[in-house]
Amino acid sequence: MSNSYFPPTPPHDTDHVDHQLQDKMSGPQQPSPQLAPNAAAPPPNGTTGTKDAPGRMSLKLSHLPSRQNIKAVYPRSPSSIDPNNPPWPAYRGYHEYSFAYATMGQRLPTILGKAIEDVVVTLNQEYDEERIVDLVHCIERMEGLMKELQEQAKLRPIIDDGEADVALWNKLIAKYFHGKTFMNAPWLFAEAYKYRRLQECFSVSKYWKSYDVFFRQKCDTFSRSHDAVFELSMRFAEPFKLKDGLSPAEKLEAERLMFLELTQICLWGNSTDLSLLINMTEEQIRSLQSTGGENLAATEKNILGNHMQRLWETVVSLRQNTGGRIDFVLDNAGFELYCDCVYADFLIQSGLAKEIRFHGKRYPWFVSDVTKKDWEWLLNSMVYGHLFPKASDEEKESLRRLGQRWKQYEKEGKWIYEQHPFWCTGFTFWELHNEAPDLFLHLSRSDLVIFKGDLNHRKLTYDCAAPPSTEFEIAIGPMASAAGAPRVCSLRTIKSDVVVGLGPEGDELAEKLDKEEPGWKISGKYAVVLLSEGRPGERVVFT
Ligand code: F6P
Ligand code: MG
Repeated sequence: MSNSYFPPTPPHDTDHVDHQLQDKMSGPQQPSPQLAPNAAAPPPNGTTGTKDAPGRMSLKLSHLPSRQNIKAVYPRSPSSIDPNNPPWPAYRGYHEYSFAYATMGQRLPTILGKAIEDVVVTLNQEYDEERIVDLVHCIERMEGLMKELQEQAKLRPIIDDGEADVALWNKLIAKYFHGKTFMNAPWLFAEAYKYRRLQECFSVSKYWKSYDVFFRQKCDTFSRSHDAVFELSMRFAEPFKLKDGLSPAEKLEAERLMFLELTQICLWGNSTDLSLLINMTEEQIRSLQSTGGENLAATEKNILGNHMQRLWETVVSLRQNTGGRIDFVLDNAGFELYCDCVYADFLIQSGLAKEIRFHGKRYPWFVSDVTKKDWEWLLNSMVYGHLFPKASDEEKESLRRLGQRWKQYEKEGKWIYEQHPFWCTGFTFWELHNEAPDLFLHLSRSDLVIFKGDLNHRKLTYDCAAPPSTEFEIAIGPMASAAGAPRVCSLRTIKSDVVVGLGPEGDELAEKLDKEEPGWKISGKYAVVLLSEGRPGERVVFT
């Protein structure tokens, strides 16, 4: 693994300089306490600062050696890693080279603006005065949040709204991000914090605690995924059967091929998350969701780190041990969740897994992430809904049967939906074993934990500028190395800066793509399927 790859950074982009930039980025209302060399010092507190006030002395250092260009050494040593100092340099909102910059500066305000529009629609349909007044207050809080975002305000503690994650959030803010702003806190934390603050706008209300500002969008995109939805339901409505007369080896090969195609369907289902679809046409969505065989063969070339064969060997070995437990840490609702369920259905039917646990979010998160309500909506609208008026009777029936089978899995306890508070915090998964030991212990009993999507990948890898050649097991730290760590698989289409697991030539490959296809890290055109071995046999000890 080489340490020579670093993203283009502003000069002297060290933690020390971060503090200077922090003050530059913190908005006009806050005078910067950091001054350029030899600049006049601010007046002492309480004085008016007129031109007669004495300035502080400044030394001229003209006889000392000039400042040297020292490069910090990464990864940081384990003891110096913390949420503000990831193993490799963090991405922060003011890093113009990073997707953090567009996200914090433009995408988040746009997303929040659309969320306000959604609440206004709801408001206009409400008739009860108390509920109307309560909702108006929610809108005012959202507008306040918008102002803070645009003025790059400092991150304040979360109000105690009774949610199970308040203590985790406020510990993080107090310990690591005191005085930080939306722009100079690490991107991952600042972005997650925005969604927690959005939740707070509603959680402190009387009538609107569980309101989901993204629910309409999530339902709408699934309804617009007609072709891909029926492509899959028409194939999987009936339990799958292998051709008669195959030898055991041929059967296994047929299953392997099916597994690999379904893994890709589950993977590419992630490329259509709503936070990026703001301006996409139906045609563009359709092409992203294409599930035809030819397309899958072509798209395998775009899987830059590909452990799919190892993944197959892993699940086959589970079946030899009477079928295992597989966990999905879910990402997006609607079409992606539907693909996850098709995959999970195959795992159950083929005996590769005997129990699947799905982990969702407790409240609206990163626009399109799955909540319990989205989960129930999908299964129920497949069985009872009228979402696809143009579908044929056969297509509608196929979707209904599929939904019925999935609901039956739930009744039988083969599929279990869970929602731990840790998934909606700003902690990365490097801290999971320390900050949510109950969840870590729970996952350590799984035979394979599949993390879906870009955000989960960012959290697995600490969302920092690790070289692309970094091995996945190194990049995910304690999630691979802690005693009891489960086998982890990341199924992720690449939609943000951090890229690891590309193999020994990975740094060169990334450099080439940087030159030839700027934007390759945010397009969702490329992906990784990465697997760790974990340390499943070991006892979990918490200190
Ligand atoms: O806002 C950026 C981001 O957090 C990126 O990680 C990604 O582009 C998107 O939002 C979420 O993607 P996913 O739904 O795959 O986690
Ligand atoms: Mg998501």
